[in-house]
Amino acid sequence: MAEMAVVIGASGGVGAALAEALRAKGWSVVALGRGSVPAVDLLDEHTIEAAAAHVAALGMPGLVIDATGFLHGTGFMPERSWRDLDGAHMAHAFAVNAIGPALLMKHFLPLLPRRGRGVFATLSARVGSIGDNRLGGWYAYRASKAALNQLVRTAAVELQRRAPEAVCVALHPGTVATALSAPFARAGLEVRTPAVAAAELLAVIDGLTARDSGGFFDHRGAAVAW
Ligand SMILES: NC(=O)c1ccc[n+]([C@@H]2O[C@H](COP(=O)([O-])OP(=O)(O)OC[C@H]3O[C@@H](n4cnc5c(N)ncnc54)[C@H](OP(=O)(O)O)[C@@H]3O)[C@@H](O)[C@H]2O)c1
Repeated sequence: MAEMAVVIGASGGVGAALAEALRAKGWSVVALGRGSVPAVDLLDEHTIEAAAAHVAALGMPGLVIDATGFLHGTGFMPERSWRDLDGAHMAHAFAVNAIGPALLMKHFLPLLPRRGRGVFATLSARVGSIGDNRLGGWYAYRASKAALNQLVRTAAVELQRRAPEAVCVALHPGTVATALSAPFARAGLEVRTPAVAAAELLAVIDGLTARDSGGFFDHRGAAVAW
C-alpha cells in the first residue's frame, strides 16, 4: 500500500506542486486547504482537529507538509517602515504564519508513527531569520515566521521524547513564482517554478534524519541562521 502524505495548503503555489510531486513519486496524498473536504482553515481550530481525525481514520501519515502562509492580501502589504505597522495586519500574519501552524502541530504531530521515521515540515521563510536580517521591513511577516521557527523547535523537543526517529522542521523554499511572491518579483532575483521548488524541498526532506529535527533548512538543505 502507498505511504500516506498530507499536504496542508495544497491550493497554494508551492503546496499544489508538492502534492503533485508526491503523487508522481507514488505517495497517497491527502490534499487539504480551505476548499477541501474536510476543509482546513488555520483561523478555526475545529477544522484542523476534524481534518486530523479524518487523516487518522485513513492511517498513519509518513509525511505531513504545511505549505500555508500569508504575506499580503486582505488589504495588507508588507510594511516598508514602522510607520506602516498595523495591529490587525500583524495579528493576521501571526494567526496564519505562527498560531495556525502551531495548531497543525498540536493535531498532526501525534499522528506520526511513534516508531520509525515520520516527518512534519512547515514552510517558513529566510526573512524570518533574525541573524540574517540586514534589510529590515516586512515586520509582520518576518516576526511571524521567526515565531513559527521557535514553535517548530519547541515542538521538536517534545516530539523527540515520544517518537525518537521523527523529524519536525522549518523549511525555506527559496523564491518561488507564486501569488505570494508575485508583487515582489524583480530583475536579478532567482525565482524558481513551484515544480522545481517542490522537487528541491522533497529532496531535502528525503535527506533529513532525527538529528535534523528542530532545525531550519533552505531548499538546498543548508541550515539557515535563526
Ligand atoms: N513563494 C515564495 O517565494 C516563498 C518564499 C519564502 C517562503 N515562502 C513560504 O512558502 C509557503 C507557501 O507559499 P506560496 O508561495 O505557495 O504561497 P501561496 O501560493 O499564496 O499559497 C498560500 C497557501 O496558504 C493558504 N492559506 C492562507 N491563509 C490560510 C488560512 N487561513 N487557512 C488555511 N490556509 C490558508 C492558502 O490557501 P487559499 O488558497 O485558501 O488562500 C494557500 O494554499 C508560505 O509559508 C510562504 O510564506 C514562499
